[in-house]
Amino acid sequence: MNETRPNRTLDVIDQSTMLHPVSSIAELKTNGPTLYRSANGSILQDSTGREHVDMGAGLWCVNVGYGREEVVKAGADALKTLSYQHHFANSAAEDTVRVSDRLIQLFHEQAGATHLNRVFYGSSGSDANDTAYKLVRYYNNLRGKPEKKKIISRIGAYHGLTAASTSLTGIDAYHKMFDLPLPDVLHTSCPHYFRYAKPGESEAEFSDRMVADLASLIEREGADTIAAFIAEPVMGTGGVFLPPVGYFDNVQKLLDKHDILLIADEVISGFGRLGHWFATGAFNLKPDIVSLAKGLTSAYFPMSASVISDRVYDVLAAASPETGAFMHGFTYSGHPVGSAIALANIDVIEKEDLVARAAENGPYLLEALKDATQSCPYVGDVRGMGLMVGVEYVSDKETNAECPQGTAPHKIVSKHAFLEGVLPRALPFLPVNSFSPPLTITRSEIDEGVSRFGRALQNARPELEQLLGA
Ligand SMILES: Cc1ncc(COP(=O)(O)O)c(C=O)c1O
Repeated sequence: MNETRPNRTLDVIDQSTMLHPVSSIAELKTNGPTLYRSANGSILQDSTGREHVDMGAGLWCVNVGYGREEVVKAGADALKTLSYQHHFANSAAEDTVRVSDRLIQLFHEQAGATHLNRVFYGSSGSDANDTAYKLVRYYNNLRGKPEKKKIISRIGAYHGLTAASTSLTGIDAYHKMFDLPLPDVLHTSCPHYFRYAKPGESEAEFSDRMVADLASLIEREGADTIAAFIAEPVMGTGGVFLPPVGYFDNVQKLLDKHDILLIADEVISGFGRLGHWFATGAFNLKPDIVSLAKGLTSAYFPMSASVISDRVYDVLAAASPETGAFMHGFTYSGHPVGSAIALANIDVIEKEDLVARAAENGPYLLEALKDATQSCPYVGDVRGMGLMVGVEYVSDKETNAECPQGTAPHKIVSKHAFLEGVLPRALPFLPVNSFSPPLTITRSEIDEGVSRFGRALQNARPELEQLLGA
């Protein structure tokens, strides 16, 4: 029986039974939860029946939109045929083998990354980055370099919230109270030109300074102690930060010089979000490990993948007769239902040309947001790539002065946006609202979502004036 205890509403039950991820317990007690009932395409319906344009695609993940019959059917069929199969002891589900081949083919053909030839599966972006964290250690231990195990990430990065991936994440709010980051994880400067450039510094000069910071960190620690550098090609949760000009070319050269692996966290950027199949192709990266999740199944099933280079895999394979089994993996690694869903999801992306659609509709969304925010004195920057756009707040548009510590104008605007029926995200590092709708979003849905956001900005104005000064 699917019945809750009588005489209590779901919001009361929620408050008395749930610990929500990345949420304030105090706020839950005051405001209660926001419950959702259904979704279709880019539109979510809450439990009062009100509709919202989902400008976040959930957490940057529902790339093919909600309610896709072909994806649902693939999952339902897989549940009937082979509801579970593990991949331990060299077992495999047929669809998992198929999806591996498909991923490798996509990386070769769509990203020019012919050096990526093996796939390891998990269930979340966080565990994919934990796999990367462990794999680079394994690799260097096998190479007789056990001291080469530190990983460099960046301030403002988001790589997940398991113990290792929280450590890789470069946002203090996720570290404090958990005694993280773990030792051996370091963070270098955040390459966000709009906020962190010095007065008069050009983008190229800023980019060079960011790479120089990385170089001096490597030198300070000793290259012999650094195993890998991890990066989101476009930083998402930090605030939609695009790499400054020349950044990755120079980072790649530096890493190559010091025998340091590159882990590309494509958990958001993979599967079309940036108007390219993968950021690896878009930025001409040569990663040794690529973390994928979210768009792999458009969140119809929790599934992640780590795509591994020959350079790393060959070391594992050569040592295998002596080391024995690769002692890493999860109950749900390569789940057959997730694999069937991934195949159907990739079919939809291909058939509907969603990568090209993101490339076309991204600039349209960007321009619409620039227009809608132009007259607001607290919006300092609107930027993006593909269907990934950030709106950053300042306390003074003339000087782009930072909003004072503790103010969160983007959260106020988000609250009004919800009331207008549009859901941008309010990010946790800088005051940024992000927009990353399903790649299937139509132009009229973009228009509707952006005009609702424009109204929200208007409605928030008195509170923003009070917070930031008129
Ligand atoms: C770039 C990036 N990496 C990793 C993760 C963690 O993924 P998950 O929440 O599935 O563990 C996220 C989640 O937002 C992400 O944006």
